[in-house]
Amino acid sequence: MARFSLVVLCSGRGSNLQALIHALDSGTLPAGIAAVCSDKPDCAALERARKAGIATCALRQSDFPDRAAFDRALFDEVALLQPDLVLLAGYMRIIDPAVVEQWIGRMINIHPSLLPKYPGLRTHARAIDAGDAEHGASVHYVTAELDGGPVIAQAALPILADDTPESLAGRLLPFEHRLLVATVRLIATGEIALEGNRVVRNGVALRAPLRLNDGGDLG
Ligand code: GAR
Repeated sequence: MARFSLVVLCSGRGSNLQALIHALDSGTLPAGIAAVCSDKPDCAALERARKAGIATCALRQSDFPDRAAFDRALFDEVALLQPDLVLLAGYMRIIDPAVVEQWIGRMINIHPSLLPKYPGLRTHARAIDAGDAEHGASVHYVTAELDGGPVIAQAALPILADDTPESLAGRLLPFEHRLLVATVRLIATGEIALEGNRVVRNGVALRAPLRLNDGGDLG
């Protein structure tokens, strides 16, 4: 059987991408990355991909008349690669709904909050300002609603009394990495899928998102 094929979209640092590359290199993720694509041709994530010998593609918004035209062009390139799954790993653009529609069930995003709390930006600061006891990250199927698609899995951690948005983001990041790898593993092995608007595991609809346990697995 052909290897489960990923295309990863990134806009910045690429630490989640790096976690995937480590997992692939160590043989703990039964998949391959066909390409890493970006809206930021100079971003560190593309450099990480090149170092790992992974194909890259990058487009600039300024070369296109509008946002929808950019999205169509980028996803035309993605479609040529025929990936089984598109991963938004620190991809900081809102994708045109007509494009998203074509990838429903085949595109996931990692978001730094316990969705449905705090879609959008400044998630760490908003969790602290709200006085929340815990914070976390979610991996969800992408739908036209911003950060609103069905949540597959989450990782949570306590917010400490002296946390700043930066310290909280820094403590969350290693959990994000484990969460993303573990979630992609379940999708690549066929255990998790989207049916309608419900996430199913081995054919049974999840009643709540999976939670990352201390062992780095999704229970
Ligand atoms: C991660 O924290 C990810 O959850 C967040 O951007 C960061 C990317 O880090 N994504 C979003 O905020 C999407 N709305 P990375 O480039 O080091 O993987």
